[in-house]
Amino acid sequence: MTVPLQERVRVLENVQIARNTWRIRVSFPKLAETVIPGQFVMVRLPSSSDPLLGRPFALYDTVLDPKTGRPVAVDIVYLVVGKVTSLLAQIMPDQEVDIWGPLGNGFPDPPTPNTASSPETKGPKIALVAGGIGQTPFLAHTRDLLGKRGYGGQSAKVKCNHVSLYYGIRNRELAAGIEDFQDAGADVNLSSDDGSIGFHGNVIQSLRRHPLPDWIVGCGPEPMLHALANFARENNVPCHVSLETPMACGLGICFSCVTKVCTPTGWDYQRVCVDGPIFDASRLVWD
Ligand SMILES: Cc1cc2nc3c(=O)[nH]c(=O)nc-3n(C[C@H](O)[C@H](O)[C@H](O)COP(=O)(O)OP(=O)(O)OC[C@H]3O[C@@H](n4cnc5c(N)ncnc54)[C@H](O)[C@@H]3O)c2cc1C
Ligand code: FES
Repeated sequence: MTVPLQERVRVLENVQIARNTWRIRVSFPKLAETVIPGQFVMVRLPSSSDPLLGRPFALYDTVLDPKTGRPVAVDIVYLVVGKVTSLLAQIMPDQEVDIWGPLGNGFPDPPTPNTASSPETKGPKIALVAGGIGQTPFLAHTRDLLGKRGYGGQSAKVKCNHVSLYYGIRNRELAAGIEDFQDAGADVNLSSDDGSIGFHGNVIQSLRRHPLPDWIVGCGPEPMLHALANFARENNVPCHVSLETPMACGLGICFSCVTKVCTPTGWDYQRVCVDGPIFDASRLVWD
């Protein structure tokens, strides 16, 4: 595991991109060089002791210096739900936030196609399935999978040729970052509970209407992830999920973030902040 960095960093931008949804960009070259898709950071507001604790946010993407091509800043996309996110939405450029990271394990690579036996193989078809604000870890993952950008000091490598984003929201006003995903090369399939954008229904129903993928990754509310895990099991497709369990330290110390994981003899608790946030869905105890 990389030792997490901790710095008070300058905010470069903080812009609203959908209803109650913002993208904050911070200058943090050392973090931008080391973080990989699926990892997260803890964010704390230095000017306030309430709340005292930081909050976890996924890497949305790294930002490259246009002259050098090196990663110099980090983007986070957040939904305003409570204390920290409300205060974050008021932050102006040149103000500062405390950040520590990179944290967590990051997304596993999908299996590599056996191009020797079948040269025309294009690699696995990947479905990234997001509910609510669960699309945030998938932008960097899309770029990484399609070989558009390297992360964590690695050069870009094509890991598959087809990434579909299935993104379910309550209504069209909450659709955040669609153009980012299209620019990154994802085939975007939207669904909404009220039918105001995309397919009228939930994201699992939307997924069922398409050809079966070879590899699934999910992020979103737990009932959605549970339904996704069931879908993957029924169809025998490998599935990983990124959990959004509330956290206090983010460093493996406080055990506030535990989840139940199957073991050969039953189940045991694992800490989402250090053992996750990405887990094989078939290993989680969904109760
Ligand atoms: C690994 C990880 C990555 C995450 N990435 C993102 C991201 O990229 N963008 C984003 O917007 N959010 C993300 N989250 C969720 C984010 O951490 C919470 O929304 C945030 O902590 C809320 O802080 P707050 O102080 O604004 O809300 P609080 O005042 O702490 O809580 C407000 C309300 O939200 C509920 N709540 C808080 N956290 C959660 C949670 N994790 N799940 C369900 N309900 C919760 C509380 O119970 C309460 O009702 C992530 C969480 C994890 C663990
Ligand atoms: S948040 Fe403290 S152990 Fe995970």
